[in-house]
Amino acid sequence: MSVLEVDRISVSFGGHLAVSDCALRVEGGRVSGLIGPNGAGKTTTFNAICGVVQPSSGEVRLDGRNISGLGTHKRARLGIGRTFHRLEVFSSLTVRENIQVGLEIRRSWSRRKAALPQYLDAGGDPEPQAEIDLIIERLDLGGLADELVGSLPTGHARLVELGRALAARPPCCCSTSRHPAWTTPRPTPSVTCS
Ligand SMILES: Nc1ncnc2c1ncn2[C@@H]1O[C@H](COP(=O)(O)OP(=O)(O)O)[C@@H](O)[C@H]1O
Ligand SMILES: [Mg+2]
Repeated sequence: MSVLEVDRISVSFGGHLAVSDCALRVEGGRVSGLIGPNGAGKTTTFNAICGVVQPSSGEVRLDGRNISGLGTHKRARLGIGRTFHRLEVFSSLTVRENIQVGLEIRRSWSRRKAALPQYLDAGGDPEPQAEIDLIIERLDLGGLADELVGSLPTGHARLVELGRALAARPPCCCSTSRHPAWTTPRPTPSVTCS
C-alpha cells in the first residue's frame, strides 16, 4: 500500500484555481519527485498534504487513513515531515539542537514503523544523542554539530532543516526545493499526477 495518497484534490485562492484534481501516490522507502513549471501548483499541493491550505475537494491519506480534516500539528505527529522554500530553521540553536527538536515530536506520537529506515537502520531505537549523531554523520555535518545554525551558509542550513525533518522519522517527508541529499545516481520516480 502507498504511504501517501492524494486523491483528486483541488485548491483555490479566491477565484484562482491553483490545483485542479491532483492525484498522486508515494511508496515508502523511496525518493519521489513532483516536477512542473513555476506556478504549476507543486508547493500548494505540498501545503495541502501538510494542512497549511485546505482543499475544496478531494482527500489526503497517510497509511490509508484520511487526514484531510486534521491540523498541521496533528499531521506532523502522524509523521508528515516538511522542509520549505525559504529556510525555516532555529537560527539561535546549534545544528545538534535543531535536529533534537525533530526528535521531540516522537515523544507524543504512536509507535510505528519508519518509512525511511535507510537513514536510521542501526537497529532498534537508538538513544536520542546517538540518533542525532547518526543523522549529523549521514548529512555530513560532522564538523558543525555545535555551531549556531544562524552562522552557517544556506547549503548547510538546508541540510540541518532536512535533518530535523528526518529526526521525526516521518513516513512521508515533503521537501519543496531540491535537496542535494535527495539526489541519487538513478532516481526512480514513483509519483503519478493527473
Ligand atoms: N497564498 C496564495 N494566494 C494566492 N495565490 C497563490 C497562493 N499560493 C500560490 N498561489 C498561486 O497558485 C498557483 C500555484 O502556485 P505554487 O503552488 O506556488 O506553484 P509551484 O510551486 O508549482 O511553482 C500560482 O498561480 C500561484 O500564483
Ligand atoms: Mg513551489
